[in-house]
Amino acid sequence: MTNSSTLHGALMDSVYRYQRHIYDATRQNYLLGRDHLIAELAPPIGGSVLEIGCGTGRNLIALARRYPNARFFGIDISAEMLKTASGAIARQGLYDRIKIAQADALTFDPRGRFNREHFDRVFFSYTLSMIPDWTGALAHAVGLLKPGGRLQVVDFGGCEALPTQFKRILDWWLSLFHVAPRLDLQHTLEALAGSPDLVRFEALYRGYAIVGGLTRNDRGSACSSV
Ligand SMILES: C[S@@+](CC[C@H](N)C(=O)[O-])C[C@H]1O[C@@H](n2cnc3c(N)ncnc32)[C@H](O)[C@@H]1O
Repeated sequence: MTNSSTLHGALMDSVYRYQRHIYDATRQNYLLGRDHLIAELAPPIGGSVLEIGCGTGRNLIALARRYPNARFFGIDISAEMLKTASGAIARQGLYDRIKIAQADALTFDPRGRFNREHFDRVFFSYTLSMIPDWTGALAHAVGLLKPGGRLQVVDFGGCEALPTQFKRILDWWLSLFHVAPRLDLQHTLEALAGSPDLVRFEALYRGYAIVGGLTRNDRGSACSSV
């Protein structure tokens, strides 16, 4: 890992060293839209799915149960979070279908970690808002897709239809965890796709959460909507 990866990994470890024990129970009611993404992901039979920033493995385990014919991969920069993920995956008896590794979203090389180059689906769930160079992470993720593969994102939105005071308190609360909503996400996806028409983007729960994505075309560039 690079110097900045090591520093960011240490920061994430400091956030999650104790939080990881209560993470799934405490985030259930405020990391909204994750099950929406899981329902939409629909990998092909025999397909491969990568979660970048898999945390406790909560999403990968739900996906493996929902899509029994696909294979799942997860990376996370936090060794602490991966301890919880590894235990949860083993307890569910899913060790043969979910592989996880420590890596940085910005530099991850799947050949070294998982002995493969590309995935049918790549997703970020409440992770881009914790990555300082989140546009770099998105661009890197597009390069991990197979032609025809889909990139999907769920994260905090701009809370446009919620009271200003609510948004102010939420922003303060999120900053305690080094989380910053990526208000430019739609435009960044559009820039990666090359056209606004080619990106799907939806605000959920009055703008509290956003889900979006793009599809990589046969020539290997991101170009069409989810
Ligand atoms: C808010 S948690 C979300 C976990 C999980 N995706 C979920 O939906 O419950 C964000 C996760 O992203 C990881 N993360 C942050 N920056 C990362 C990076 N640069 N590369 C890989 N993982 C990262 C953190 O360690 C943490 O586990």
